[in-house]
Amino acid sequence: MKVDQGGAGCDTSPRMDWDAFFTVHRDLPREGPGLADDVAWAGRLSAVPRHGKVCDAGCGPGGDLAALRQLVPEGQVDGVETVAHFVEAATKRFAGDPSVRIIEADMKNLIGPYDLIWSAGAVYFLGVTRALNAWRGALTGTGAVAFSHPCLFTDSPSEAALAFWEAEPGSIGTESTTRAEIASAGWQVLAARQLTDDAWSVYYDPMLARCDKLEAAGASDAVASAIAAARMEAASWRIVAGETGYMLYVVRPC
Ligand SMILES: C[S@@+](CC[C@H](N)C(=O)[O-])C[C@H]1O[C@@H](n2cnc3c(N)ncnc32)[C@H](O)[C@@H]1O
Repeated sequence: MKVDQGGAGCDTSPRMDWDAFFTVHRDLPREGPGLADDVAWAGRLSAVPRHGKVCDAGCGPGGDLAALRQLVPEGQVDGVETVAHFVEAATKRFAGDPSVRIIEADMKNLIGPYDLIWSAGAVYFLGVTRALNAWRGALTGTGAVAFSHPCLFTDSPSEAALAFWEAEPGSIGTESTTRAEIASAGWQVLAARQLTDDAWSVYYDPMLARCDKLEAAGASDAVASAIAAARMEAASWRIVAGETGYMLYVVRPC
Protein backbone atom coordinates (compact mmCIF):
# COMPACT_ATOMS: atom_id res chain seq x y z
CA MET A 1 0.00 0.00 0.00
CA LYS A 2 1.55 3.28 -1.09
CA VAL A 3 -0.02 6.30 0.49
CA ASP A 4 0.39 10.01 0.63
CA GLN A 5 2.07 11.65 3.63
CA GLY A 6 0.12 10.79 6.74
CA GLY A 7 -0.50 7.20 5.67
CA ALA A 8 -2.87 5.18 7.76
CA GLY A 9 -3.36 8.27 9.85
CA CYS A 10 -5.30 9.39 6.77
CA ASP A 11 -4.51 13.08 6.70
CA THR A 12 -7.03 15.45 5.21
CA SER A 13 -4.75 16.47 2.36
CA PRO A 14 -6.62 17.41 -0.81
CA ARG A 15 -3.96 15.43 -2.72
CA MET A 16 -5.59 12.13 -1.82
CA ASP A 17 -9.21 11.06 -2.10
CA TRP A 18 -9.17 8.44 0.64
CA ASP A 19 -12.56 6.97 -0.22
CA ALA A 20 -11.36 6.32 -3.76
CA PHE A 21 -7.98 5.06 -2.52
CA PHE A 22 -9.63 2.58 -0.18
CA THR A 23 -12.10 1.53 -2.87
CA VAL A 24 -9.10 0.23 -4.78
CA HIS A 25 -7.36 -1.03 -1.63
CA ARG A 26 -10.23 -3.19 -0.43
CA ASP A 27 -10.80 -6.94 -0.60
CA LEU A 28 -7.14 -7.54 -1.36
CA PRO A 29 -5.24 -10.41 0.26
CA ARG A 30 -2.43 -8.12 1.34
CA GLU A 31 -1.39 -4.47 1.15
CA GLY A 32 2.32 -4.79 0.48
CA PRO A 33 4.87 -7.30 -0.80
CA GLY A 34 5.64 -10.49 1.13
CA LEU A 35 5.50 -14.28 1.08
CA ALA A 36 4.73 -16.94 3.68
CA ASP A 37 8.34 -18.06 3.22
CA ASP A 38 9.54 -14.68 4.53
CA VAL A 39 7.55 -15.20 7.72
CA ALA A 40 8.89 -18.75 8.09
CA TRP A 41 12.48 -17.51 7.60
CA ALA A 42 12.09 -14.82 10.24
CA GLY A 43 10.43 -17.29 12.60
CA ARG A 44 13.34 -19.73 12.30
CA LEU A 45 15.93 -17.03 12.89
CA SER A 46 14.19 -15.66 15.92
CA ALA A 47 13.51 -19.17 17.31
CA VAL A 48 9.91 -18.45 18.23
CA PRO A 49 8.62 -21.20 20.58
CA ARG A 50 5.57 -23.23 19.40
CA HIS A 51 3.59 -21.92 22.34
CA GLY A 52 4.85 -18.36 21.82
CA LYS A 53 3.07 -15.08 21.27
CA VAL A 54 3.59 -13.05 18.11
CA CYS A 55 2.28 -9.71 16.90
CA ASP A 56 1.69 -8.54 13.33
CA ALA A 57 2.15 -4.78 13.70
CA GLY A 58 0.29 -3.01 10.87
CA CYS A 59 -1.32 -6.28 9.75
CA GLY A 60 -3.51 -4.69 7.04
CA PRO A 61 -6.12 -7.22 5.87
CA GLY A 62 -4.15 -10.03 7.54
CA GLY A 63 -2.10 -11.44 4.66
CA ASP A 64 0.64 -12.74 6.97
CA LEU A 65 -1.48 -13.99 9.84
CA ALA A 66 -1.83 -17.58 8.58
CA ALA A 67 1.95 -17.93 8.21
CA LEU A 68 2.48 -16.36 11.64
CA ARG A 69 -0.11 -18.76 13.07
CA GLN A 70 2.02 -21.65 11.78
CA LEU A 71 4.99 -20.39 13.79
CA VAL A 72 3.03 -20.71 17.03
CA PRO A 73 0.60 -23.64 16.61
CA GLU A 74 0.14 -23.76 20.38
CA GLY A 75 0.39 -20.02 20.90
CA GLN A 76 -1.25 -16.71 20.11
CA VAL A 77 -1.16 -14.20 17.24
CA ASP A 78 -2.26 -10.58 17.63
CA GLY A 79 -2.81 -8.43 14.53
CA VAL A 80 -2.70 -4.70 15.24
CA GLU A 81 -4.02 -2.22 12.69
CA THR A 82 -5.53 1.27 12.62
CA VAL A 83 -7.63 1.16 9.43
CA ALA A 84 -11.09 -0.10 10.36
CA HIS A 85 -11.90 -1.99 7.17
CA PHE A 86 -8.56 -3.82 7.30
CA VAL A 87 -9.36 -4.77 10.89
CA GLU A 88 -12.73 -6.03 9.70
CA ALA A 89 -11.20 -8.02 6.82
CA ALA A 90 -8.55 -9.63 9.04
CA THR A 91 -11.13 -10.41 11.73
CA LYS A 92 -13.38 -12.12 9.17
CA ARG A 93 -10.48 -14.19 7.89
CA PHE A 94 -9.81 -15.64 11.33
CA ALA A 95 -13.32 -15.78 12.74
CA GLY A 96 -13.55 -19.02 14.68
CA ASP A 97 -9.82 -19.17 15.51
CA PRO A 98 -9.50 -17.99 19.12
CA SER A 99 -5.70 -18.00 18.78
CA VAL A 100 -5.83 -15.03 16.42
CA ARG A 101 -6.93 -11.69 17.84
CA ILE A 102 -7.25 -8.57 15.70
CA ILE A 103 -6.95 -5.30 17.57
CA GLU A 104 -7.80 -1.87 16.20
CA ALA A 105 -5.00 0.14 17.79
CA ASP A 106 -1.85 2.10 17.11
CA MET A 107 1.15 -0.22 16.83
CA LYS A 108 3.36 2.25 18.68
CA ASN A 109 1.56 1.25 21.89
CA LEU A 110 2.17 -2.52 21.87
CA ILE A 111 2.25 -4.14 25.29
CA GLY A 112 3.17 -7.80 24.75
CA PRO A 113 5.31 -9.45 25.82
CA TYR A 114 5.85 -10.94 22.36
CA ASP A 115 8.37 -13.53 21.18
CA LEU A 116 8.23 -11.93 17.74
CA ILE A 117 6.91 -8.63 16.48
CA TRP A 118 6.47 -9.02 12.73
CA SER A 119 5.84 -5.91 10.69
CA ALA A 120 5.58 -6.06 6.88
CA GLY A 121 5.89 -2.68 5.23
CA ALA A 122 4.59 -0.71 8.21
CA VAL A 123 7.64 0.39 10.23
CA TYR A 124 8.28 3.31 7.89
CA PHE A 125 5.03 4.88 9.08
CA LEU A 126 6.69 5.34 12.49
CA GLY A 127 10.34 5.37 11.43
CA VAL A 128 12.85 2.67 12.38
CA THR A 129 14.16 4.37 15.52
CA ARG A 130 10.73 5.22 16.87
CA ALA A 131 9.34 1.74 16.17
CA LEU A 132 12.28 -0.06 17.77
CA ASN A 133 12.23 2.23 20.79
CA ALA A 134 8.50 1.66 21.17
CA TRP A 135 8.79 -2.13 20.86
CA ARG A 136 11.81 -2.87 23.04
CA GLY A 137 9.61 -3.12 26.14
CA ALA A 138 6.99 -5.24 24.34
CA LEU A 139 9.34 -8.23 23.78
CA THR A 140 10.11 -11.27 25.91
CA GLY A 141 13.74 -11.60 27.08
CA THR A 142 14.62 -13.54 23.89
CA GLY A 143 12.14 -11.75 21.64
CA ALA A 144 12.92 -10.31 18.20
CA VAL A 145 11.46 -7.92 15.67
CA ALA A 146 11.25 -8.75 11.95
CA PHE A 147 10.32 -5.94 9.59
CA SER A 148 10.38 -5.30 5.87
CA HIS A 149 11.44 -1.83 4.92
CA PRO A 150 11.93 0.22 1.75
CA CYS A 151 15.53 0.18 0.53
CA LEU A 152 17.64 1.67 -2.23
CA PHE A 153 19.94 -1.05 -3.58
CA THR A 154 22.33 1.48 -5.06
CA ASP A 155 24.13 4.59 -3.81
CA SER A 156 23.26 6.37 -7.06
CA PRO A 157 19.56 5.70 -7.66
CA SER A 158 17.82 7.02 -10.76
CA GLU A 159 15.18 9.72 -10.45
CA ALA A 160 12.58 7.05 -11.22
CA ALA A 161 13.73 4.96 -8.25
CA LEU A 162 13.55 7.95 -5.92
CA ALA A 163 10.18 8.98 -7.35
CA PHE A 164 8.79 5.51 -6.62
CA TRP A 165 8.87 6.31 -2.89
CA GLU A 166 8.10 10.02 -3.21
CA ALA A 167 4.66 9.83 -1.57
CA GLU A 168 5.81 7.67 1.33
CA PRO A 169 6.38 8.86 4.88
CA GLY A 170 10.02 9.33 5.90
CA SER A 171 13.11 9.26 3.74
CA ILE A 172 14.26 6.09 1.99
CA GLY A 173 17.86 4.98 2.47
CA THR A 174 20.16 2.13 1.56
CA GLU A 175 20.62 -1.03 3.62
CA SER A 176 23.61 0.67 5.30
CA THR A 177 21.42 3.61 6.33
CA THR A 178 18.86 1.30 7.91
CA ARG A 179 21.53 -0.83 9.61
CA ALA A 180 23.01 2.34 11.09
CA GLU A 181 19.58 3.38 12.42
CA ILE A 182 19.09 -0.09 13.93
CA ALA A 183 22.53 -0.02 15.58
CA SER A 184 22.15 3.47 16.96
CA ALA A 185 18.80 2.47 18.51
CA GLY A 186 20.76 -0.26 20.38
CA TRP A 187 19.67 -3.30 18.33
CA GLN A 188 21.63 -5.94 16.41
CA VAL A 189 20.74 -7.41 13.01
CA LEU A 190 20.48 -11.21 13.15
CA ALA A 191 19.98 -11.42 9.37
CA ALA A 192 18.64 -9.46 6.43
CA ARG A 193 17.44 -10.41 2.98
CA GLN A 194 15.80 -8.79 -0.01
CA LEU A 195 12.15 -9.50 -0.82
CA THR A 196 11.84 -11.34 -4.12
CA ASP A 197 9.92 -10.37 -7.26
CA ASP A 198 7.36 -13.06 -6.34
CA ALA A 199 6.73 -11.23 -3.08
CA TRP A 200 5.80 -8.12 -5.08
CA SER A 201 3.62 -10.09 -7.52
CA VAL A 202 1.42 -11.45 -4.74
CA TYR A 203 0.72 -7.85 -3.83
CA TYR A 204 0.36 -6.27 -7.26
CA ASP A 205 -1.42 -9.05 -9.22
CA PRO A 206 -4.60 -9.01 -7.08
CA MET A 207 -4.50 -5.20 -6.95
CA LEU A 208 -4.38 -4.98 -10.75
CA ALA A 209 -7.19 -7.54 -11.03
CA ARG A 210 -9.27 -5.39 -8.67
CA CYS A 211 -8.56 -2.33 -10.84
CA ASP A 212 -9.84 -4.24 -13.90
CA LYS A 213 -12.97 -5.28 -12.02
CA LEU A 214 -13.75 -1.78 -10.74
CA GLU A 215 -13.18 -0.31 -14.17
CA ALA A 216 -15.46 -2.87 -15.84
CA ALA A 217 -18.18 -2.00 -13.32
CA GLY A 218 -17.82 1.71 -14.15
CA ALA A 219 -15.64 3.83 -11.88
CA SER A 220 -16.26 7.43 -10.78
CA ASP A 221 -13.62 10.02 -11.74
CA ALA A 222 -12.09 9.80 -8.26
CA VAL A 223 -11.90 6.00 -8.37
CA ALA A 224 -10.56 6.14 -11.95
CA SER A 225 -7.73 8.37 -10.63
CA ALA A 226 -7.01 5.94 -7.79
CA ILE A 227 -6.98 3.07 -10.32
CA ALA A 228 -4.55 5.00 -12.52
CA ALA A 229 -2.31 5.64 -9.49
CA ALA A 230 -2.36 1.94 -8.55
CA ARG A 231 -1.52 0.89 -12.10
CA MET A 232 1.25 3.48 -12.27
CA GLU A 233 2.73 2.18 -9.02
CA ALA A 234 2.82 -1.42 -10.29
CA ALA A 235 4.29 -0.37 -13.66
CA SER A 236 6.89 1.88 -11.98
CA TRP A 237 7.98 -0.91 -9.66
CA ARG A 238 8.78 -3.11 -12.67
CA ILE A 239 11.02 -0.37 -14.06
CA VAL A 240 12.93 0.33 -10.83
CA ALA A 241 12.95 -3.17 -9.25
CA GLY A 242 16.70 -3.54 -9.78
CA GLU A 243 17.39 -0.33 -7.87
CA THR A 244 14.91 -0.40 -5.05
CA GLY A 245 12.50 -2.62 -3.16
CA TYR A 246 12.17 -4.00 0.35
CA MET A 247 14.72 -5.53 2.69
CA LEU A 248 13.55 -7.80 5.48
CA TYR A 249 15.50 -7.41 8.75
CA VAL A 250 15.41 -9.65 11.81
CA VAL A 251 16.69 -7.67 14.79
CA ARG A 252 17.05 -8.06 18.53
CA PRO A 253 17.96 -5.61 21.30
CA CYS A 254 21.73 -5.69 22.07
C1 LIG B 1 1.94 -1.23 3.41
S1 LIG B 1 0.62 -1.73 4.47
C2 LIG B 1 1.11 -3.41 4.83
C3 LIG B 1 -0.01 -4.21 5.44
C4 LIG B 1 0.34 -5.66 5.77
N1 LIG B 1 1.43 -5.75 6.70
C5 LIG B 1 0.68 -6.42 4.52
O1 LIG B 1 1.85 -6.69 4.25
O2 LIG B 1 -0.27 -6.74 3.80
C6 LIG B 1 1.01 -0.90 6.00
C7 LIG B 1 -0.06 -1.09 7.05
O3 LIG B 1 0.37 -0.49 8.26
C8 LIG B 1 -0.77 0.11 8.87
N2 LIG B 1 -0.30 1.12 9.83
C9 LIG B 1 0.40 2.25 9.57
N3 LIG B 1 0.68 2.92 10.69
C10 LIG B 1 0.13 2.19 11.70
C11 LIG B 1 0.08 2.36 13.11
N4 LIG B 1 0.66 3.42 13.70
N5 LIG B 1 -0.53 1.42 13.85
C12 LIG B 1 -1.11 0.34 13.26
N6 LIG B 1 -1.10 0.13 11.92
C13 LIG B 1 -0.49 1.04 11.15
C14 LIG B 1 -1.52 0.67 7.69
O4 LIG B 1 -2.86 0.99 8.00
C15 LIG B 1 -1.39 -0.45 6.69
O5 LIG B 1 -2.42 -1.39 6.81
